Amino acid sequence: MLLDLLTPHRVVFVGGKGGVGKTSVAAALALGRARAGARVLLVSTDPAHNLGHLWDRPVGDRPVRLTGPGDLTPGAGRAGHVDGLEIDPERTVEQHLSAVAATMRRLLPERMHAPAARHLELARQAPGTHESAVLERIAEAVELGAEAYDLVVFDTAPSGHTLRLLALPEQLASWTEALLVNRDRSERFGDAVRGLGGGRETDRDAELRRVLLRRRDRFARLREVVTDPARTGFVIVLTAEPLPIAETTEMYEKLTGLGVEVTALVANRRSPADAGDLLARRRDREDEHLVRLRRRIPDPPLLDVPLLPGDLVGAEALAVLADRLGPSPA
Ligand SMILES: Nc1ncnc2c1ncn2[C@@H]1O[C@H](COP(=O)(O)OP(=O)(O)OP(=O)(O)O)[C@@H](O)[C@H]1O
Ligand SMILES: [Mg+2]
Repeated sequence: MLLDLLTPHRVVFVGGKGGVGKTSVAAALALGRARAGARVLLVSTDPAHNLGHLWDRPVGDRPVRLTGPGDLTPGAGRAGHVDGLEIDPERTVEQHLSAVAATMRRLLPERMHAPAARHLELARQAPGTHESAVLERIAEAVELGAEAYDLVVFDTAPSGHTLRLLALPEQLASWTEALLVNRDRSERFGDAVRGLGGGRETDRDAELRRVLLRRRDRFARLREVVTDPARTGFVIVLTAEPLPIAETTEMYEKLTGLGVEVTALVANRRSPADAGDLLARRRDREDEHLVRLRRRIPDPPLLDVPLLPGDLVGAEALAVLADRLGPSPA
């Protein structure tokens, strides 16, 4: 069972191609664990959010309770719950930039304020700004999870976006590293100048250094959590069709390259073998695709989730899906 496989983990990422069922599986996982007593934070990092739609209640940029008392099995002992959070990239970028602007105003001499503001305006549009802001929020959610939850489940955006995000801590860490090295050089230069009679820059330098170090450490911690298979699980959801399978293989290779271990593959919306000729033939095709997938990716468990008849909306429907997170014959 997928739920059993992921029991030891404190953080789970659910990824895969667009439309394969990432949000549904992430939500069902969260609900499944909450029914077993866990306090779960379900976080959407996809700019096109739909947690709210799925749970049939408003979800926003702060955690809100998604499960009601009736959504969890009574008498399961410890009461668990699911809280939901949709990371809003626009708002995150705004908050991030205004925090940076405040720090800059505090740290930079007056004459630098106008050029610094222009620089920030450009940064708003720069590639990577959204992603690094979202990454900061992912780091924050992981930290919040460690304090107040047993598990954080990330419902991620389609493959490419998520992979870029996961590669970022590395890039940002080395970028901050480079800035710090430059600061060291300029500090030595500053010391020399101060030796000649200056002396006002010391506090600012120290503060800027602290800000950079904090950021670097935060990303380094995130990277450590994400690449630790004992703490973090990664589930790739797919449907047994050529394109999702091609993307799964690509994603698997990239994740492995980033040092992220894939815990399980989920073949979602499997056609039934016993519901008429059309679906039986579809199922045979799916099996063939899955055999090919297994040749490329033999190791992580592959689990089947059947095509369900109803609309997957609301805790009741998600509970049906949670019940079906079972093992695959493939
Ligand atoms: N096992 C299933 N049986 C039937 N329908 C399903 C199943 N899993 C998902 N669906 C349906 O498939 C559609 C896509 O699912 P979902 O929104 O979870 O995919 P996604 O990967 O998160 O998509 P996106 O990439 O757009 O975020 C939804 O309408 C959902 O209700
Ligand atoms: Mg989704």
